[in-house]
Amino acid sequence: MDFMDSILIVGGGGREHALLKALLRSDRPLCLYAFPGNAGMENDGCMIVDAKINNWKDLANWAIKNEIDLTVVGPEQPLVEGIVDTFQKARLPIFGPTKKAAQIEGSKFYSKNLMKKYNIPTAAFESFTDKSAAMEYLGKVGAPIVIKASGLAAGKGAIVCNTMEEAEGALSLIFDDKAFGAAGDTVIIEEKMEGEEASVFVLSDGKNYKVLPVSQDHKPIFDGDKGPNTGGMGAYAPAPLVNEALLAQIEEEVIVPTLNAMKEEGATYRGLLYAGLMMTKEGPKVVEYNCRFGDPETQAVLPLVDCDWFEVLSACTDGTLDSVQWTIKKEACVAVVLASGGYPGKYEKGKKIVGIDKAERSKANVDVYHAGTEKVDEDTLVTSGGRVLAVSACEPTLEEAIATAYENVAMIEFEGVTFRRDIGMKGVARLKKS
Ligand code: AMP
Ligand code: GLY
Repeated sequence: MDFMDSILIVGGGGREHALLKALLRSDRPLCLYAFPGNAGMENDGCMIVDAKINNWKDLANWAIKNEIDLTVVGPEQPLVEGIVDTFQKARLPIFGPTKKAAQIEGSKFYSKNLMKKYNIPTAAFESFTDKSAAMEYLGKVGAPIVIKASGLAAGKGAIVCNTMEEAEGALSLIFDDKAFGAAGDTVIIEEKMEGEEASVFVLSDGKNYKVLPVSQDHKPIFDGDKGPNTGGMGAYAPAPLVNEALLAQIEEEVIVPTLNAMKEEGATYRGLLYAGLMMTKEGPKVVEYNCRFGDPETQAVLPLVDCDWFEVLSACTDGTLDSVQWTIKKEACVAVVLASGGYPGKYEKGKKIVGIDKAERSKANVDVYHAGTEKVDEDTLVTSGGRVLAVSACEPTLEEAIATAYENVAMIEFEGVTFRRDIGMKGVARLKKS
């Protein structure tokens, strides 16, 4: 199949399904594989890697055997483990940062010190490897305060503490209970910032960069940003919070200095840099960096970009991003996550899902992404995770996109289905004010 480009997508969540759908939107004939993929990706014609893979070297060998032209990595874990280095050693083109560069997400100790060294705006902080020193510092600075495990903690490593009691509890959780394992060996204690958050996605080939439409995630489980944090209950783009002038400021004060800093550190950044920012009274400040696309923001951002994603992602691996053309649609996109009842706490699996076909066929501008689904037979799909599906809709205005997304969410049913009813409403409120 030499006439076709072969792509391997690493990961199996909604974000990876969104990357697949984006790749499929161009006319380029593609042969698509996923590891481990999911039921939705398989439905869309993606072949699942069926070899026994014990490590990234095994996957690289599989990629050589199957003549993969480009590997695209979704999640942070493989990147932080060095999948890119392994593939590059085997001369396989792969989209994503090296192990060294992925530390920008893998170690908050690394990223916070990087920001301090290069004057990139972020919350003031100190780091600790010892509980008594951390307690002493806490006694000096007091609450409110934010306590974070330095390492990867599946998005749960940041604890916002409004009282001293909560802060002491957080330190005990990390140091005594080892709630985050080795990821909590180093702890960051940082100033609590106030402001609205936005996700800025930047593609980088090591020399050139391109900024994608800015989005907003909705982390807490309940409407009005109440309740415990989740992996993300929905997203929308573009976020009116970040207007043209503010985006220019973010590029100048955060994006360019970060990419330059990484180069200076000998960790040239290639792949997607996700800057999680808070718009404080003193200007935009970095909450965290991620070394990959966000989930569920990707499901709301990619449908707005008209391009050949194979070309764009390949360009990031070979330093030709400056010659790539794309058009950003003058529309809004909203992605609503459907989760299992009980999520982000305990939830049951194996609930039969109905109505996906109906939603998918309703309109050309609607997509359904799988995350926690499992095919039990040809006609039966059941839930198998916390975040089960996401439904996205693109429309000329944000209000219309919200309406279409929720019309289609209503077509999908499973026992206990849980979703927020206010995804994108922050944006509508801001648009009305201006
Ligand atoms: P992180 O894992 O660092 O992205 O943090 C998760 C969430 O915790 C962020 O999206 C913020 O809502 C919140 N958060 C983290 N750090 C801070 C901070 N310094 N000030 C206020 N909120 C924060
Ligand atoms: N949406 C948050 C994340 O991907 O980390």
